Amino acid sequence: MIVIPHYNLISALKPLVPLVHKMGFLLALSPYLTLIFLFLLMFFIFKKRVLPGLLAFAGLILSLFLFLTYSAFFIFPNDLKIWNPGDIRVGKGGGQEIKVVFMADLHFGSYRDGKWVKRLTEAAAREKPDLLLLGGDYVYGDPPGLDKQLGYLGNIPAPMGKFAVLGNHDYGIPGVDVSKKIEKIMSGEGIKVLHNQWVTVGDGFVLIGVDDLWRRRADLNMAFKDVPENLPRLVLAHNPDILLPDPQNKYRADLWLFGHTHGGQLRPPWGNAPYLPTRLKLDRGLFELPRGKAIVTQGTAQFYARFFTNPEIVTFKIIVPENKR
Ligand SMILES: [Fe+2]
Repeated sequence: MIVIPHYNLISALKPLVPLVHKMGFLLALSPYLTLIFLFLLMFFIFKKRVLPGLLAFAGLILSLFLFLTYSAFFIFPNDLKIWNPGDIRVGKGGGQEIKVVFMADLHFGSYRDGKWVKRLTEAAAREKPDLLLLGGDYVYGDPPGLDKQLGYLGNIPAPMGKFAVLGNHDYGIPGVDVSKKIEKIMSGEGIKVLHNQWVTVGDGFVLIGVDDLWRRRADLNMAFKDVPENLPRLVLAHNPDILLPDPQNKYRADLWLFGHTHGGQLRPPWGNAPYLPTRLKLDRGLFELPRGKAIVTQGTAQFYARFFTNPEIVTFKIIVPENKR
């Protein structure tokens, strides 16, 4: 059995959510309380009054704690951003531009209400992608109304195709295995789920979908089998740990796309994420790796609480050379 301390920590926050949301009004006052107590503390220090000063200090600590809670449960989880890592040129020379929207870790079932899914998918549709890529972990458990929520994804127009891979949560690690259900709904929505297989997108590049690592279904040998040598390669996979050194696995690609890390979910304002559910420490961003460029997204889910990570939609252009078409 795989022990997942990260998800246990986040799951432990779940019972707190209704309580925190009931306290939302009070928490929203916390920035003002912090300023008031700071002012009082300075005032009492200036007046050299010890007891009122100590009380103001205690009030400041409490209001700061409330402010941090407010930020983690209300500010960061609602701060949906569009992240553009810049144009990605594959191969040499300029040519056809393909607009991609890439999202992962949607975690339907962890939202406060259905409005978030609508907001998310409408924001993705406004980017007018040619190609929609989905990097796994669509659920948190077996949420009611999954068909409707996945249906919103199907509504995002993407004339060059919509492709997905599955993540550990979809396979029930942890939780319930809803992979078959997801795949059936996605298929009805025109989203093709890739299991260690590749497809040609237009006539410009090869998209390789690698299955989930934690479910022990990732097989790069199968996924890369007979991939044409003359075409650029994009790889879509859930977990960046498929890049861990392995004598059987030396494959290179022009671009690897991953999710799974949530950017660390809860992290300090500076420095590294204290915990990642991966052995490779690729927390979030665009990386230049020996085996190609890699984008790791911190995911689109609100997922109860976030701190110095925000839900994001990744959007960028792939520039495919004319001579490779
Ligand atoms: Fe995951």
